[in-house]
Amino acid sequence: MAFTNGLFRLEFDLRRTAWCASCHAPSAADARTVRDDDALALQGIGCMTCHMGAEGRLLARAKSPDSPHKTLVSEAFGSAEFCEGCHEFRFPVMGDDGMPTGFLDLPMQETVTEFRATAAAKKGDDCRSCHMEPSEGAHRFVGSHDAATLRSALAWEVCVADGELRVEVANIGAAHAVPTGGVNRHMVLRFWRSEAPGSMVEHFIGRRFVGDDGGEKTLVVNTSLAAAESRSFVAKLRDLGAGAEDFVNIELRYIYPLDEFAKLTPGTRRFATVFHERIKASVPAACSEL
Ligand code: HEC
Ligand code: HEC
Ligand code: HEC
Ligand code: HEC
Repeated sequence: MAFTNGLFRLEFDLRRTAWCASCHAPSAADARTVRDDDALALQGIGCMTCHMGAEGRLLARAKSPDSPHKTLVSEAFGSAEFCEGCHEFRFPVMGDDGMPTGFLDLPMQETVTEFRATAAAKKGDDCRSCHMEPSEGAHRFVGSHDAATLRSALAWEVCVADGELRVEVANIGAAHAVPTGGVNRHMVLRFWRSEAPGSMVEHFIGRRFVGDDGGEKTLVVNTSLAAAESRSFVAKLRDLGAGAEDFVNIELRYIYPLDEFAKLTPGTRRFATVFHERIKASVPAACSEL
C-alpha cells in the first residue's frame, strides 16, 4: 500500500515530491515525474524493489537448487542495513526540486537505531526474525496490521490497590519501540466506567512533534515503550466518576494513522484493541512482577 495508502496520497497530492516517491514508489520509472497510472509505482514496495540485483539478475540470500534464475546471492540481503535505507531517516529540509537540501537533527523514523540497542540485535537477530512469514510462493512482511504480531509485542497486568488501578504494560516482543515507524502511530490506554464515560482517564503512548515558522521541529512527547521496557499507568478510582458502578473498563488501543482519517479509505481496518478487560474495582488484586 506504500503508494496507494490514503493518508500518503493526501499528503503526496499536495506536493508531489521525488523524495516521497523514492521510498513509497521506488520502482516508478522516474521518481520526479511519477504518474498515477504507472503500474510499477502502484506496486509500492514490490518484489523487485528488494529482489533486483545488478545486471537485471535476481538478488536473494540463498538460491534454491531448482531455481531457474541466475540469482545473485548476498549475505547482506535482508539485514537491518538493507531495511535501513527506508526505515530510518531524519526530518528533511526540502529544496525546490522535491529533494531534501539537508536534514534536521531529529529522527522522523528510527526503527533501526532502536533495534540496534536491543538484546536481539546483539545476539545476531535481524528484522527477518520477526517480520517474515512464509506464504505460498513468497512471504509476507507481518507487522502491526497482523493481530497476532501486534499482540505478541505486548504483555500487561492489572491490579487494584490503595484506591488506584494500575496497569503494567511491557514491550516484550518487539526489538524496537512500540509504536515504531511513522510519526502518527500511537496507542491509548483508557480507564472508564460505563456509567461515567465523561470521567475517562486516557494515557497517550507515542511521539508528538511541533514545528515553528522557521521550519524547525521539536519532539515534545515521547512515551513510546522502548524494547524490553515495562511501565505503569495509573488511574485513581475516585477520578473515574463518583457513585458509578463498580466495574471499570481498561483498554489498550493501537491507533493506525488512517483511523484518524477514516473517510480517506473506507473499508480499511480500524484501530486494534490490544486488550480490553472489565474488572471489579472493589476487589483488590495484588500487583506482582510481570
Ligand atoms: C524501498 C523502501 C523500503 C524498504 C527497502 C523496506 N521497506 Fe518496509 N515499508 C516501506 C514503506 C513505504 C512502508 C509503508 C507502507 C504503507 O504504510 O502503506 C513499509 C512498511 C513496512 C512494515 C509495516 C507493515 C504493516 O503491517 O503496516 C514492515 C513490518 C516493514 N516495512 C518491514 C521491512 C523490513 C523488515 C525491511 C527489510 C527486509 C523493509 N521493510 C524494507 C518501505 C520499505
Ligand atoms: C522488503 C523487501 C522484500 C520484498 C518487497 C520482497 N522480498 Fe522476497 N525476500 C526478502 C528477504 C529479506 C528474503 C530472504 C529471507 C531469508 O532467507 O531469510 C526474501 C526471500 C524470498 C524468496 C526465497 C528465496 C531465498 O532468498 O531463499 C522468494 C522466493 C521471494 N523472496 C520472493 C518474493 C516475491 C515473489 C516478492 C513479491 C511478491 C517478494 N519476495 C518481495 C525481501 C523482500
Ligand atoms: C523481536 C521481534 C522483532 C524484531 C527483531 C523487529 N521487529 Fe519490527 N515489530 C515487531 C512487532 C511485534 C511489531 C508490532 C508492534 C508495533 O507495531 O510496534 C513490529 C512493528 C514494526 C513496525 C511498525 C509498523 C507496522 O505496521 O508493523 C515497523 C516499521 C517495523 N516493525 C520494522 C522493523 C525493522 C526495520 C526491524 C529491523 C531493524 C524490525 N522491525 C525488527 C517485532 C520485531
Ligand atoms: C526514507 C524513506 C521514506 C521517505 C523519503 C518518505 N517515507 Fe513515508 N514512510 C516510510 C516508511 C518506512 C513508512 C512506514 C512506517 C510505519 O509502518 O509506521 C512510511 C509511512 C508513511 C505514512 C503513514 C502511512 C500509514 O498509514 O501508517 C505517510 C502518510 C507517509 N509515509 C507519507 C510520506 C510523505 C508525504 C513523504 C514525502 C514528504 C514520505 N512519506 C517520505 C518511508 C519514507
